[in-house]
Amino acid sequence: MSRPDLTLVLIGFGKVARRFVTLLAETAERLDFSWKVAGISTRHHGSVVAASGIDMQRAIGIVESRQSLDRLDEAPCERRGIDVIRQLADACADDAAEGRLVCIETTVLDIDRGEPAVSHVRAALEGQAHVVTANKGPAAFAYHELEALAESVDRVFLFEGAVMDGVPVFNLVRDTMPAIAIDGFRGVINATCNFILSELECGKEFDRALAEMQARGIAEADPSLDIDGWDAAAKTAALVNAMMGGVITPHYVQRTGIRDLTGLDVREARGRNKRIRLVASASRHGGRVQARVEPELLDHTDPLAGLVDLDNALYLTTDLLGEVGIVQRGGNLTQTAYALLSDVSRISQRLKGL
Ligand SMILES: NC(=O)c1ccc[n+]([C@@H]2O[C@H](COP(=O)([O-])OP(=O)(O)OC[C@H]3O[C@@H](n4cnc5c(N)ncnc54)[C@H](OP(=O)(O)O)[C@@H]3O)[C@@H](O)[C@H]2O)c1
Repeated sequence: MSRPDLTLVLIGFGKVARRFVTLLAETAERLDFSWKVAGISTRHHGSVVAASGIDMQRAIGIVESRQSLDRLDEAPCERRGIDVIRQLADACADDAAEGRLVCIETTVLDIDRGEPAVSHVRAALEGQAHVVTANKGPAAFAYHELEALAESVDRVFLFEGAVMDGVPVFNLVRDTMPAIAIDGFRGVINATCNFILSELECGKEFDRALAEMQARGIAEADPSLDIDGWDAAAKTAALVNAMMGGVITPHYVQRTGIRDLTGLDVREARGRNKRIRLVASASRHGGRVQARVEPELLDHTDPLAGLVDLDNALYLTTDLLGEVGIVQRGGNLTQTAYALLSDVSRISQRLKGL
């Protein structure tokens, strides 16, 4: 196959999904696939299904002016995400059978059970669609079930954007580290908390720094997920499940957020040539994995102490390569959108037999 023609279904059409679509348009000449969007589902902005393809500029304009996508639909009706997936799996049965149907799941993180994202992924795989998601929920709550389902239907379940945006973590390990066991990891993997701690060091107020992260579209829809450490716990669970063979959920991770830290605390640490950072870690103890997220007082020689603003880093402890570090200097919506793009490109390469 020369240039696979992919049919995309967008479940969730918020900041990340909209940037993904504009990024696909901006990079069209560099892409090894062509695409159309045949379905979009949102929670408050309606849905649209059109197997022949949706005018994406109009769809973006409609959602950004807070109107309903129903007006783009020839037969508008109330549908949940799962209904859109099933309708398109039927309407685009040939694309699905040929492995050219891709569900892009970008609904918000639900920290109780990872729903409805887990059900969206399950329904898409059952409809023979590949799945790409930036939502941590599916890998954090149901990685093993979804991975087994994907394998049983010869489709892929990819979630590079769930941790460190588009900087490769899962794909790096999967593609370039064969026969390696990951025994643990340690990292700073929540940009919002790192930004707030950096701003506190400079004398800014906690609430103002958080408001800036919300205004820039980087904080979670519910920012308490960031500052109470839930987002980092969900990422930790996804990493443990996918890379260490653990079977945990975010609720298993010992968790303390940064809510109670003050400017005084972080500046006092700086005065002693140290830094406080929200550190996520996991390690194996016998047959068990221990996982935690908590603020740590780091010596200036600790590589995590050099991370400021939106920087993230993850250090993997491996059996054959020792410690392997992945650093992300700054992060933004484009990088998250790129994670989706890179996963879709993997699907395209798979279709080409590469
Ligand atoms: N923003 C980032 O920098 C970033 C980075 C890495 C990962 N992520 C992850 O990417 C995902 C999307 O983030 P975002 O910033 O794009 O969020 P967002 O702007 O809040 O968009 C979320 C989208 O999901 C829709 N939605 C929510 N629940 C739904 C449901 N049950 N069925 C169908 N649609 C539903 C929302 O619809 P309505 O708008 O109509 O409610 C909206 O279109 C999240 O899981 C987030 O954790 C985000």
